[in-house]
Amino acid sequence: MPSICNAFTVQVYTPNMSPSEQYTWFITGTSRGIGLELTKQLLQSPHTVVVAACRNPGKADSLQSLTTSAGGRLYIVRLDVTDTQTIKDAAQETAKIVGEKGIDYLINNAGIGIGDTAFTMDIDDLTKTLQTNLVGPAYTSQAFISLVEKSKKKTIVNISSTLGSIGRDFGPQYASYAVTKASLNMLTYKQAKERPDLTVLSICPGHLQTDMGGENAALPVSVGVAGVLKVVTSLTPKDSGSFMNFRGERVPW
Ligand SMILES: NC(=O)c1ccc[n+]([C@@H]2O[C@H](COP(=O)([O-])OP(=O)(O)OC[C@H]3O[C@@H](n4cnc5c(N)ncnc54)[C@H](OP(=O)(O)O)[C@@H]3O)[C@@H](O)[C@H]2O)c1
Repeated sequence: MPSICNAFTVQVYTPNMSPSEQYTWFITGTSRGIGLELTKQLLQSPHTVVVAACRNPGKADSLQSLTTSAGGRLYIVRLDVTDTQTIKDAAQETAKIVGEKGIDYLINNAGIGIGDTAFTMDIDDLTKTLQTNLVGPAYTSQAFISLVEKSKKKTIVNISSTLGSIGRDFGPQYASYAVTKASLNMLTYKQAKERPDLTVLSICPGHLQTDMGGENAALPVSVGVAGVLKVVTSLTPKDSGSFMNFRGERVPW
């Protein structure tokens, strides 16, 4: 993926909450990359409970290794965003874990991306990318809505990409990925318009050094994730339905 971010001052995520407030997070795609780093940074706060979803918990060694230091605040559940039954099952399991607290922050993070162009793209790849990056988050938000409604923060975050911005004009590359992220942004807008009682955001985490971003990406994953957490925990209802980056700046649609 191309570099899409300028140099960014390293910042450390510090939770924006009083010690008595304990918020619950549900994150998809936590086996590696951004989802794993979100889980790690959130668990640094003693007031956070994370339900971390991944498609194969038995093989998610890095995630499993966090359980020892998490002091009972990390729960790992199975969820494949392309399999609606696993999403329903994960929602039921999460309801038992969090009880009346619900889910304060639902983070639709799991995603895939390939480099292709509009006239050369493999239609099966487009379908799979759409299923993972759009249909998965849409269904996960539906399946978890009753848990989000119960919570204090009532926030849904769709992890998007500036590559899905028409306004930023990245040319013909990454066509199927860009189409799915532009669709995800419209989902964010529609979710926010339908439910003014929720806070719904699309956010680009920056071009980060993960398996997807590549080792030559602009920034370490820790920097982009710290930025995402700072932005997300500082949101106000007026931000709902917008597209931001990890620096808290608006990104054009
Ligand atoms: N890295 C960047 O530069 C960048 C920039 C902008 C936006 N993003 C977005 O950030 C999100 C995370 O990206 P990343 O860089 O962390 O990617 P990554 O390193 O490739 O990790 C992707 C994560 O998504 C999971 N995943 C993929 N398909 C899944 C499915 N069907 N069900 C459940 N989980 C699935 C993977 O699980 P497995 O281990 O099971 O495959 C993995 O945990 C994506 O939405 C991506 O589009 C990334």
